[in-house]
Amino acid sequence: MLVLGIETSCDETAAAVVDENGRVLSDVVHTQIAVHRPYGGVVPELASRDHLRNAEPVIVKALADAGVRLDDVSGVAVTCRPGLTGALLVGVQIAQGLAWAAGKPVVGIDHLVGHICAAYLERPGVKLDRPAPPFVALIASGGHTALYRVDGLESGAIRELGATRDDAAGEAFDKVAKLLGLGYPGGPVIDRLAKAGDATRFAIAPPMPERDSLEFSFSGIKTNVARWVEKNGVPSDEAALSDLCAAFQRRVVDALVRKTMVAARRERVSTVVLGGGVAANRELRAAMANAGAVRELSVVVPEVASCTDNAAMIAFAGVARLAKGEDDTGRLEVNPATSLPRVTRKGRGRR
Ligand code: KG4
Ligand code: ZN
Repeated sequence: MLVLGIETSCDETAAAVVDENGRVLSDVVHTQIAVHRPYGGVVPELASRDHLRNAEPVIVKALADAGVRLDDVSGVAVTCRPGLTGALLVGVQIAQGLAWAAGKPVVGIDHLVGHICAAYLERPGVKLDRPAPPFVALIASGGHTALYRVDGLESGAIRELGATRDDAAGEAFDKVAKLLGLGYPGGPVIDRLAKAGDATRFAIAPPMPERDSLEFSFSGIKTNVARWVEKNGVPSDEAALSDLCAAFQRRVVDALVRKTMVAARRERVSTVVLGGGVAANRELRAAMANAGAVRELSVVVPEVASCTDNAAMIAFAGVARLAKGEDDTGRLEVNPATSLPRVTRKGRGRR
C-alpha cells in the first residue's frame, strides 16, 4: 500500500509518499519561512497564496522522488484540521481533485494525529523503535503544546491529558527570539545560541507555578524574559545572549520534561513519544531521554525531519484509515480546531 500525503495547515507546503509500514519513499517540504519572516510570524492570507503557488510542484516532486505515478498510490491523505482555514482549504481541494481524477479514496487527517504518527516513520538508514500503545505523547509545536494518552493511532483512541492555557512552547521560542532581535522562527536560533550558553548565569523565573497539573503555560516566561530585557537591555555580546537563551530554554525544557514524566506515571505507561517542531530542540531531546532512562521509560524521539511539519506523518496517519476502507470523498471539511477531545481551554484554565 502506498499513500500520498498532503499537508498545508500552516506555513509548510508538503507532500510525501509512504508505504503501509511507515517507510518514507519521498518527503518534500517547501517552507514559507522567507515569506513570513518580515512579519515575525505567519500571515494567513500570504500562507494560502503561497500554498497555491507551490502545491503542484511539491506534489509532482514527491511522486517523482518516490518513483511512482498517481495511479500507483492506494489513496490520498490530507490534513483537514487544525490549522489556518484558508491554508487547509488549499490542500484539501487539491487532494480531493487528485483523488477524484485518479479514482482513489481520500481521507482527512488531524494534524496532531499526524505529529503522533511521526514516531512510526522509517527513513532510509535509520531504525526507530516503534512505540506500542498505550503511551504518552508530548506534542509541542508553534501552534500546539499538549500531552496525550495514546491507545491507538486513530483520533478516537487519543485523549488530551493537558494542554497549554496560553502560548504554545514554539510560540514562546518565537516571541522571545523576536524580543531579542533574533528573527523568525525563534526555535532553531535559540537552540543554537543556548548550546553555547550558561543556563545558570541569569535568573529567569520558571513559566508555571502549579506543580502537579498537566497543563502548561508559556506566556509568563516570555514576560519574564521581556522584564529582564527592560531592565538590562538586549545583551550586546554573543556570550551574554547565549546565556539568556540558555536560561529561557532550560526553563521551557524543564517544564515540558517534568509534566511528561508526571503524565507517564499517572497513566502507568512505559513509553513516551515526542513530536512537533519543538521536539527538534537538542536540549529537549537529550533531557527527555535522560529523564526517561532514570525512570526506565522508553523514550521515542523521531528524527528532526519527522518532528517538524511534513506530509509523511500525514500519509502514515492515512494508512490505517485507508486500510480499513474508509473514504471521505464528498464530505471532507476543514476545521480550525482539532478533533481530539480537549480538557484544557485556552485562556480559561481547566474545563
Ligand atoms: O511543528 P512545526 O513545524 O509547525 C507547527 O505545527 O507549528 O513547529 C514549528 C515551531 C516553531 O515555533 C519553531 O520555532 C519551533 O517549532 N522549533 C523549535 C526548534 N525548531 C523548530 N523550537 C525549539 N528548538 C528548535 N530546535
Ligand atoms: Zn505541526
